[in-house]
Amino acid sequence: MIVAMAENRVIGRDGGMPWHIPADLKRFKALTMGKPMIMGRKTFESLPGLLPGRRHIVLTRDRDWEAEGAEVVYGIGNALIKAGEPEVCVIGGAEIFRMFMRVADAIELTQIQGAVEGDTYMPEWDRRWWREVSREKVEAEGDQPAYSYVRLIAD
Ligand SMILES: NC(=O)c1ccc[n+]([C@@H]2O[C@H](COP(=O)([O-])OP(=O)(O)OC[C@H]3O[C@@H](n4cnc5c(N)ncnc54)[C@H](OP(=O)(O)O)[C@@H]3O)[C@@H](O)[C@H]2O)c1
Repeated sequence: MIVAMAENRVIGRDGGMPWHIPADLKRFKALTMGKPMIMGRKTFESLPGLLPGRRHIVLTRDRDWEAEGAEVVYGIGNALIKAGEPEVCVIGGAEIFRMFMRVADAIELTQIQGAVEGDTYMPEWDRRWWREVSREKVEAEGDQPAYSYVRLIAD
């Protein structure tokens, strides 16, 4: 699972991201390139367009929904079968992270310092199962907040 979250667990606002951190977008690109991505229909619709070099597997309950470039699935099992690869990136949003929390192996977290206003929150993960294995801090610069890249793995 790949997520950028503020200290108050905010991940989204008004259907989009509450911040713009180009270095984090670059990292997201590097982490996902060539891999199937699973996402919710709302996150798919929030993207600026199809992300090149990656499959977009989109969860919806709406049997009539379709979009160019989206591989539509109706449940978590189907999403993983459709992906058909050992390494799959789950890219949100909150509803989809909640579902995958129990089956994911790793969380690539961008932890943004400070609280941020928003309307979509990352579900809590159980600290007994998730272990932090690395952390790299990036200092604040200009109007960009400080943040850390944190890797968590499920024990
Ligand atoms: N900071 C980050 O890392 C990050 C990452 C991703 C997204 N975001 C932000 O998060 C917000 C969107 O998140 P969200 O939680 O509102 O929406 P979401 O998880 O992207 O999508 C929710 C939709 O997924 C479908 N869905 C949910 N559960 C399902 C299930 N069990 N089976 C089939 N389909 C299912 C439904 O689609 P239908 O309504 O079509 O049935 C539901 O409305 C945006 O603001 C976005 O920018 C932030």
